[in-house]
Amino acid sequence: MSLLPAIEKRRANRALSNTPIDKEILDRLIEAAHTAPSSMNNQPWRIITTVEEGTLEELKETLVGGNYWAKQSPAISAFVTHPQWSMNMGGRELAYFELGMAAMAYQLQAIEEGLYVHPIVGFNANKAKTVLGIPDDVVLEILMIVAYPGDESGLSEKHQEAEKSARDRKPIEEISHYNGWSDILFPPQK
Ligand SMILES: Cc1cc2nc3c(=O)[nH]c(=O)nc-3n(C[C@H](O)[C@H](O)[C@H](O)COP(=O)(O)O)c2cc1C
Repeated sequence: MSLLPAIEKRRANRALSNTPIDKEILDRLIEAAHTAPSSMNNQPWRIITTVEEGTLEELKETLVGGNYWAKQSPAISAFVTHPQWSMNMGGRELAYFELGMAAMAYQLQAIEEGLYVHPIVGFNANKAKTVLGIPDDVVLEILMIVAYPGDESGLSEKHQEAEKSARDRKPIEEISHYNGWSDILFPPQK
């Protein structure tokens, strides 16, 4: 089984089509997310998917300006959790880690379905929670923008460039080390 090429196919693309996505497909993305592992099998992830036009429009009004491109999307999933819904071991709030693992499985299934999938933090979370009726103390961590690939012409020049750009990553030696810590792992001083 060669999974790496599929993993490498995922990019944070922005050239989206507004073509609707079948509910069975969206259901499979949610099913994939729900296979994620979690401490004590707590399953702290909650996924609220919006496809209904009116609610989708209201949700899109919470986006920051730089996320204008996400307005094309026919479906947006809110990834939601709460630190008390999973283990908290000596200050390590595992709910967020586990929500992230669910989010990655969701993204990989989306790629498999021929979709673009792009997590965003650039939105007003309080307003988005009001739109979706999410209780105050529950954490709306990210919105996952989901769409079929579309036209680049609506994108800014910078974003058109980004669509074609190679993946940009730190050298592997700066993020991985065997048999103990190395100071090369510290992020460069800003
Ligand atoms: C938690 C999270 C939040 C992000 N928020 C935004 C965002 O608000 N707007 C945006 O255009 N991209 C956002 N991104 C996408 C990243 O910019 C992107 O993943 C990164 O530049 C690496 O590019 P790649 O995913 O194509 O490799 C976000 C990604 C993550 C994981």
